[in-house]
Amino acid sequence: MAAHIISGKEVAADIRKSIKEQVDVLRSHGVIPGLTVILVGEDPASESYVRGKEKACGEVGIASEIVRRNDSITQEQLLAELDRLNADPAVHGILVQLPLPAHIDEKAVINRIRPDKDVDGFHPINVGNMVVGDDCYLPCTPHGIIELIKRSGQAISGKQALVVGRSNIVGKPVSMLLLRENATVTIAHSRTEDLSALVREADIVVAAVGRPQMIKGSDIKPGAIVIDVGVNRLETGKLVGDVDFESAKDIAGYITPVPGGVGPMTITMLLKNTVDAAKKLNGII
Ligand code: GUN
Repeated sequence: MAAHIISGKEVAADIRKSIKEQVDVLRSHGVIPGLTVILVGEDPASESYVRGKEKACGEVGIASEIVRRNDSITQEQLLAELDRLNADPAVHGILVQLPLPAHIDEKAVINRIRPDKDVDGFHPINVGNMVVGDDCYLPCTPHGIIELIKRSGQAISGKQALVVGRSNIVGKPVSMLLLRENATVTIAHSRTEDLSALVREADIVVAAVGRPQMIKGSDIKPGAIVIDVGVNRLETGKLVGDVDFESAKDIAGYITPVPGGVGPMTITMLLKNTVDAAKKLNGII
């Protein structure tokens, strides 16, 4: 039977409606939620992500600013920018678009962002709070994935979840969030010996490796929930995920498309974190 297609676009639109209502209430109290994104260099993919964030902010009424810096910026200059934004009361959320040029220490930069303005959820204090289950800003893509699964109406608790990929941005945190939802979690990565065997047993598969169409339908457990985080461009120009959608869609029970699956959720959770930050920093929650 054909899988139910989980439309991230539709779920994101639904959540953004509620975010806009919250922004309207904040604005009526004189609080304008503000997000500042720092973009270093001219990576076309980063440029496109950042423009997407700016557009989404505008649509829900969040004030956004992009601080563009040449890739000759020194680490000290970048840290000084962060100090300025950390101290600016109109800025509730700060995001430094990754990756950064090689001469800049990414960890030092992330560590400099005030944890209560770290709407990416990358600061070690937020990561630590997420792991122990305390209040924090959850990282946007992992949070979006959990929302997509929950809104599909399917239970996570007790299920076998396989996360393919162990990045700090997606693989590791989504594993923690699935564990928090009481899944039994396996993390596979580039050194995993028999990935197919693990995929065959999984009720939930989260694919976040960045290898085009690597997971084939023939390996997927019938009825499984398949969440595809991959965004890969083939030589033909076509955008595909880490899952071979054509072969998977008749075997999975639920599957996210690429594009239009996880992608729209990432920005949506960033908007949510920014509104939460504006509330917290103004003592509203
Ligand atoms: N680069 C790719 N994904 C992300 C993300 O979620 N946040 C930031 N800051 N940079 C990224």
